[in-house]
Amino acid sequence: MPSPAPINRIVVADPVALADAAAKRLMARIEANPDRIAICLTGGSSPKQLYRLLVTEAYAKQIPWDRVHWFIGDERFVSPADPLNNMAMARGIFLDRFAPKDHIHPIPTDVATPEESARLYERELQSFYGAKELDPARPLFDLMLMGIGPDGHTASLFPDYPALNETKRWVVGVPQAHVEPFVPRVSLTLPALASCCEMLFELAGNEKRAILARLSTDESLPANRARSLGETVLLVDQAALGG
Ligand code: 6PG
Repeated sequence: MPSPAPINRIVVADPVALADAAAKRLMARIEANPDRIAICLTGGSSPKQLYRLLVTEAYAKQIPWDRVHWFIGDERFVSPADPLNNMAMARGIFLDRFAPKDHIHPIPTDVATPEESARLYERELQSFYGAKELDPARPLFDLMLMGIGPDGHTASLFPDYPALNETKRWVVGVPQAHVEPFVPRVSLTLPALASCCEMLFELAGNEKRAILARLSTDESLPANRARSLGETVLLVDQAALGG
């Protein structure tokens, strides 16, 4: 397996500039692929400003909605309509207005356990991809959006969680979260997250300062281990840098 390229850190002024830069990168990934496009979204608060930009006329008109499929990198194990549900947040802000229903691929949470949900989503990803093994030469996603939590988690891969070492499975159930909301989660694994042309982390605000400093070391945090087999970019604003 090829080793990932170093992370490309891009510093922007503030959260508005950050969302703008993320939207431009998303458009560039869409333009680079004339066929079917797969974008994996993230939850939390970091991507909300980006999602709000995508409903503005400037972006909504440019996105070829009939060619783009929307996935989610991790989910809180709550009902699909619960405001804590990551895909519900993305649907509410932009997807339900523009994306064809069958192009929205939520992690199913109306099942008995996070483990069952993980198995079903893995099957869905494999059927979309057309194979059960990921080929490093053929990424599953064009773009993978990511956030970083205060403990260095990313998606729902928390520090020291055994599934961080998963090499075969694409999706796992996560019985316990380390941070709020304290609900079980379902998460893509590091190899599935890595299978993308670009992994784009967004990090903004004073409260991210401490974790950003830890990310600059070799500490074995999930967010330091999640890397694209293509390009990995960290968009960071001045407040997170301490500027
Ligand atoms: C979730 C996320 C999680 C999130 C980080 C950052 O379901 O909570 O997907 O990984 O991206 O915790 O969260 P914020 O963007 O809210 O800081």
